[in-house]
Amino acid sequence: MPFDFRRFDIYRKVPKDLTQPTYTGAIISICCCLFILFLFLSELTGFITTEVVNELYVDDPDKDSGGKIDVSLNISLPHLHCELVGLDIQDEMGRHEVGHIDNSMKIPLNNGAGCRFEGQFSINKVPGNFHVSTHSATAQPQNPDMTHVIHKLSFGDTLQVQNIHGAFNALGGADRLTSNPLASHDYILKIVPTVYEDKSGKQRYSYQYTVANKEYVAYSHTGRIIPAIWFRYDLSPITVKYTERRQPLYRFITTDLALLFRP
Ligand SMILES: *[C@@H]1O[C@H](CO)[C@@H](O)[C@H](O)[C@H]1NC(C)=O
Repeated sequence: MPFDFRRFDIYRKVPKDLTQPTYTGAIISICCCLFILFLFLSELTGFITTEVVNELYVDDPDKDSGGKIDVSLNISLPHLHCELVGLDIQDEMGRHEVGHIDNSMKIPLNNGAGCRFEGQFSINKVPGNFHVSTHSATAQPQNPDMTHVIHKLSFGDTLQVQNIHGAFNALGGADRLTSNPLASHDYILKIVPTVYEDKSGKQRYSYQYTVANKEYVAYSHTGRIIPAIWFRYDLSPITVKYTERRQPLYRFITTDLALLFRP
């Protein structure tokens, strides 16, 4: 008897006249097709949308900036006259600037009773602080009132991206209007360098930060209370990097082939 090679066939054919459609079979087939369609559509949306992956590393990403970080501050003090409001900047590199005025604006509020300070300045990449106070005023007020609302405090470029929920303006909206008017406020910030790389490989540099805050009444050596709003910052050595990525085409094709061409 000759050896029949066809014995190796594991997908044996049933003759057409022996098959028979059933209602159960039809229902199962329709369900299968709908399920395949669903899987295909979810694969397709996964392929079209870009995912953002993040990684951490120890480095200073923005070395070309000359070791400086741009700061943007917008704060309202509804009960302190603009003449009294000033911004001072100090850091561990020996900087001590009192009454910083470049690129800043003081806008009177409440018919001059209050003040909004909007300023842009840069800080060195070393621990330091900047504070809003009456220190630079020619005469100290009898009853300073440091209640305030912070509209914005951000560092570096603004990232216009929706798909990451970072802490780029963590203090935005901080409302201390009901605090003790004589209290000083300390905001202790840890600034985290953040890099965003879009699909074209273009990188943008920004910073996120975390905040811890406290409130206290401080007396100066003359026994007077001269409150201030302190922002004490320090930089994290860890950089967060977000990278936009699209699923590779071959992965989309292989998963779809696996879906559509079942044995
Ligand atoms: C500062 O905040 C106030 C209140 O939200 C807003 O009206 C103003 O436009 C802001 N200024 C800047 C420069 O963004």
